[in-house]
Amino acid sequence: MHSLLRLLSDGAFHSGEDLGNALGVSRSAVWKKLQQLQAETGIEIHKVRGRGYRLAQPLHLLDRPWLVERHKALGWAVQVHDSIDSTNAEAMRLAVVGEHIPALIVAEQQLAGRGRRGRRWVSPFAENLYYSLVLRIEGGMRQLEGLSLLVGLAVVKTLRAMGVPNAGLKWPNDILSGERKLAGVLLELTGDPADVCHVVIGVGINVNMRVAQDVDQAWTSMRLESGGDVDRNQVAALLSSELARHLAAHRQGGFEAFQDEWERLHLWQGEEVTLLAGSTALEGVVVGVDAVGALRLRVGREIRTFSGGELSLRLRKRLDPESRG
Ligand code: BTN
Repeated sequence: MHSLLRLLSDGAFHSGEDLGNALGVSRSAVWKKLQQLQAETGIEIHKVRGRGYRLAQPLHLLDRPWLVERHKALGWAVQVHDSIDSTNAEAMRLAVVGEHIPALIVAEQQLAGRGRRGRRWVSPFAENLYYSLVLRIEGGMRQLEGLSLLVGLAVVKTLRAMGVPNAGLKWPNDILSGERKLAGVLLELTGDPADVCHVVIGVGINVNMRVAQDVDQAWTSMRLESGGDVDRNQVAALLSSELARHLAAHRQGGFEAFQDEWERLHLWQGEEVTLLAGSTALEGVVVGVDAVGALRLRVGREIRTFSGGELSLRLRKRLDPESRG
């Protein structure tokens, strides 16, 4: 699929004949492939009699050879998929086989992208970054403590370095600009966390998305925040080097070394919030995080700590604006 899209990616007109010659297929085979591409990716392709085909918008595709080269120094294998169910699901399958790890899986499109708490992650073709890194963990539980918060920190630093200065964190690992979601992190584990296991670090970043019908929460993208088209290859490469650096430091000193920095980038630090756990809600003020990344909340006169993947925070001023006077 990529070869035809790559030929069209400049947004200029290409005749059916030229495309057919370049791919070694007939003009009618080109037409059929284009129909199929439109149906599979949702990309709009214009056909104009006498001029040929062109894309409604130029496309910047993931560059497999460049990504492979850029990750050699880190010792990570790289897979680039046109379309996949979920890069996290593929990473979990790789973890079971246990070969070529660490491995990074990226895709142009996910058909069943997974979000936290069983939600769907909307993953349109060639617009955003769908990124999963699978690692083998041998040091037991300590190597996992605060890991998802650490990943959020690496994502925020990547976004800030790439022209999104307002990117910040929301406990445990949402990445927002203001109250709009820019990126999310989903960690999945397989094996025995107390012994040898594999962790999949899944990161979804809204990079060039401008419209999306199906996203069920307030969102934004790097493009909307920075005002320009962003190269997803550069985002992936910078995220990998930030992650590698943070992971190495985390292996040595745990999350504790990142606690202060994480709190400085926490957008809801000191805010009145409601902590939701299923149908249970608890009100408090965010104090920060502890040395393993658990949330510290002032509830009445007490400071209480909370952790767990099913928890989520809401700002009280939005839920109940009257109560703030
Ligand atoms: C969240 O709900 O905030 C987490 C979203 C994580 C989405 C990413 S996209 C790449 C990887 N593959 C998936 O299926 N999910 C994660």
